[in-house]
Amino acid sequence: MSHPSEGQKSSKAWGGVFREPTDKRVEAFSESVSFDRRLADDDIDASIAHARMLAACGLLTVAEADAIAQGLEEIRAEIRAGRLEFTAAKEDIHLHIESALTTRLGDVGRKLHTARSRNDQVATDLRLFCRRAIDRLEQGLKELQRAFLAFAAREEGLVMPGYTHLRRAQPVLASHQLLAWCEKFERDRSRLADCRRRTNVLPLGSCAMAGSSLPIDRAHVEAALGFEGVAANSVDGASDRDFICELAFVISLTMVHLSQWAEEWILYSTQEFGFLKLPEGFCTGSSIMPQKINPDVLELIRGKSARAIGNVQALLVLLKGLPTAYNRDLQEDKEAIFDSIDTLEAVLGVAAPLVAGTSFDHARVMATLERGHLDATSLMEALIAAGVPQRTAHETVGHLVRHAMTKGVALAELSDEEFQREWAGWTASFRGALGASRAVERMVSFGSTAPALVAEQIAIWKRHLA
Ligand code: ARG
Repeated sequence: MSHPSEGQKSSKAWGGVFREPTDKRVEAFSESVSFDRRLADDDIDASIAHARMLAACGLLTVAEADAIAQGLEEIRAEIRAGRLEFTAAKEDIHLHIESALTTRLGDVGRKLHTARSRNDQVATDLRLFCRRAIDRLEQGLKELQRAFLAFAAREEGLVMPGYTHLRRAQPVLASHQLLAWCEKFERDRSRLADCRRRTNVLPLGSCAMAGSSLPIDRAHVEAALGFEGVAANSVDGASDRDFICELAFVISLTMVHLSQWAEEWILYSTQEFGFLKLPEGFCTGSSIMPQKINPDVLELIRGKSARAIGNVQALLVLLKGLPTAYNRDLQEDKEAIFDSIDTLEAVLGVAAPLVAGTSFDHARVMATLERGHLDATSLMEALIAAGVPQRTAHETVGHLVRHAMTKGVALAELSDEEFQREWAGWTASFRGALGASRAVERMVSFGSTAPALVAEQIAIWKRHLA
């Protein structure tokens, strides 16, 4: 059979069966190149690997694969230089690249789509894109952990009030409080690594949905692109978007952590708390109130968590009604996951330097440290250690706190007689449990704010994040 001449070819890659041209309004409505052009690099990497595999399997000659690889590299350079023209008529980035290749190579370019569909192609590109994003986000989180760790190391020794219900609870080392964020971001990193494993599976070769009757070698592409597994079911392979949902969720939970942190530091840096001094380069002013130095960066971090959470919802709802396998709805996955990735990346870009530039106002922290009876639990545990049943010790100290509150003093300011009146077993040695610093020093349990244990944690984190 002879090939149709140029004149007979449809302007669409899929146009053969059509008798009518695509309505321009449909082209504008259904195009994705305006956003999926971000997949260009991954699309080219995957296409080169695909062409090499086709050559290894005898479906292309080595010379043809070489020409395709070279042509694709030229197109990559053209796209990077902003010289490739994007048009809604060519739908998406995949068809743009293939068409640019065919313009260059003619029939050799028209062979690239052998044993491939845009369905497995876009799935492959997305996995490569997400894999790269995961690696950048993981690194960004590590930088942020390092900033928190450095802050914790700088503040070793500073005792601050710890809060529950946003009410003064127990004294803690500031470094202990700061290392709590390292723990959360460590879990986020581990979730990213976990998500990466399921992302790093090759769909290419699933083709449209049933696989191919041509003798392809999927393991060849798997190795070339650094995948660690090949999708074992073509129906699932071409349409699985679990990895996108997972990544969006991991990002959303990370953003929730960042939002909580932002909220805490907004509070701690208010005039009312005055614990933290934010770097002025990371604050902005008011156009009307000359005195204002606002924590806008932290507020935006808190605010941007909303869209990351929304994207998870959008993706799950996108998928919930889809029959197998590929459905065009899936094109809608990209903007959501791109936005989540971009949002977290932008946040990480400012979060680490903000942490690096922040310091505690020691005088302000210490000025009110003995307010709020932060040592009440410490005293209660001292009584328990002396044999008093916990419920009795709790009530006894409760009475003592009420007495101190009425007098407007700290527990340490009560006299031995006042303690004895409440509990006959009192001796002056119990004063060792009083005061915020002593309460911290008496801690012994693993994971507590005990200074020696926190110092050990700092050393462990330093090794871990080195
Ligand atoms: N632009 C499409 C997407 O993002 C590519 C796959 C199109 N496949 C198809 N059979 N129309 O999902």
